[in-house]
Amino acid sequence: MDAKERLQWWTQARFGMFIHWGLYAVLAGEFNGQKTPHIGEWIMRDLRIPILEYEKLAGQFNPVGFDAEVWAQLAQDAGMKYLVITAKHHDGFCMFDSPSNPYNIVKQTPFKRDPMKELAAACNKRGIRMCFYYSQDLDWHAPGGGGHWEEAKPGDSSLAYQRPPEDFQKYLDTVVKPNLRELLTHYGPIGLIWFDVPVTISKAQSEALRDLVHELQPACLVSGRVGNDVGDYGSLGDNEHPVGKLPGAWETPATLNDTWGFKKDDHHWKSVDSLIDLLVNCASKGVNYLLNVGPTAEGIIPQPSVELLRQVGQWLRRNGEAIYGTQASPLMTDPPWGRVTSKGNTLYLLVKQWSERGIALHGLQNKVLAAHLLGAAQASVGIEQEADVVNFLLPAAAPEKTVSVVAVTLDGPPRAEQLIFQYGDSAVHFPTALAQVRGNMKQHHARGVEGWTDPAMGVSWKFRARAAGVYEVRAITRVNRKNPELFGNHEVNISVDDRSVSGVVGVRDMMPPADNKTFQMVSSVAAIPQPRSLQGGDCLVF
Ligand code: GLC
Repeated sequence: MDAKERLQWWTQARFGMFIHWGLYAVLAGEFNGQKTPHIGEWIMRDLRIPILEYEKLAGQFNPVGFDAEVWAQLAQDAGMKYLVITAKHHDGFCMFDSPSNPYNIVKQTPFKRDPMKELAAACNKRGIRMCFYYSQDLDWHAPGGGGHWEEAKPGDSSLAYQRPPEDFQKYLDTVVKPNLRELLTHYGPIGLIWFDVPVTISKAQSEALRDLVHELQPACLVSGRVGNDVGDYGSLGDNEHPVGKLPGAWETPATLNDTWGFKKDDHHWKSVDSLIDLLVNCASKGVNYLLNVGPTAEGIIPQPSVELLRQVGQWLRRNGEAIYGTQASPLMTDPPWGRVTSKGNTLYLLVKQWSERGIALHGLQNKVLAAHLLGAAQASVGIEQEADVVNFLLPAAAPEKTVSVVAVTLDGPPRAEQLIFQYGDSAVHFPTALAQVRGNMKQHHARGVEGWTDPAMGVSWKFRARAAGVYEVRAITRVNRKNPELFGNHEVNISVDDRSVSGVVGVRDMMPPADNKTFQMVSSVAAIPQPRSLQGGDCLVF
């Protein structure tokens, strides 16, 4: 079986539930009166809790409120098609009955039950794929595991702390591989193993784990974070929004608040709108969305999570046709009013900004045959198609508060010109993630280009402008917060066709991004000495 076959159900699924549940839920973000500023499941390492202290939490872990039926039902109500739960996180504690590793929920806790057995049964009943998260590299409990500060030499607190390589290999052979055998032989068919944080693992070691999974269950997928690009699909960063269509199969793991494992003080819940936004954006790039809940030590999924997920599920019940089993948008960039997905000869317009004046789509090369709204009314939508622009005439009221969907029937599989289009006289956005890159820069699907250190490097895009005129060119850069000296003051040269202007980009507004703690966006306006008219050209170069 190859990756393509394995991925079939997964790319259809588009939406899954992530569950981070372990001993860290007992602490809920606080140890001995000290609160962790970081994500809850990292508390052992972040607060340097000694192993013997942390082990004591097992004696307090008694999730009598746990009901696998309730969790699986919530996943189903939310419209999620697979469920990935932490069988072992970085703290090294097995949340399943592991014959090879006594540091587990059945042997160490008063609870004594194997929640994974119960969850697998509850998921199977509902047609939800049961999957396991497994921390293959970091293990702060097992000797030889990655990031083990107790074993590190004084002063070496790096995640990939220096230790004899044979210790790590021994850990893989005596802890990880036996665990994988158990997870893949005791719990029925498993959809995927979600490996994570490959900081020290070598390519050969990643491959060995991948091959073991495939040997035990040929249909079981292996996540990209097994390391060294050897998984069956790729993993974007945590909470990362992809910018353009990605080659191959990808997934974004995401949180409902800031933490993954339960933290009693984290009330920073995202809105339903932003959750649907991320779901819709992922689907429009052909990316899966794996959304997390962090149950309490009593085994309860926090009520705000339950409510948010149910609302997403309600939206999906009316509009899921535009998400499940779809492919990425055929267009190169997103239209200003929302997102696009496709399935067969149908295009789905996911409209965030409803307009009584209708919405336009640029660059489609098919003939549009018909269009209607999804939802109870199925109201038809008027069509005006001329050259490379289609106008969809919408009814006055949007059927949905968040994202409404127009289903568009085409004369064949969708085809689109791979250009960036200007909509009306609106601003045109040129994401560096989609640029042609000149020079040896790294280009990331969401973060754009990195390592732009040489004036000979550059980025360019092909675009079609609608209106001739004078354009202000604004460069938005993102900089790691730790490097404020890199903010702004870049010299830029901008050319369109045969005209070019140059100047210094100065810092204008700082925009702390809502969803990213590491990077700071800096918006700058090119100080163009004599702005010239930029005619509708077809190439913009920085
Ligand atoms: C990170 C964290 C981890 C979390 C994961 C989810 O890599 O180390 O705690 O499980 O992201 O995507």
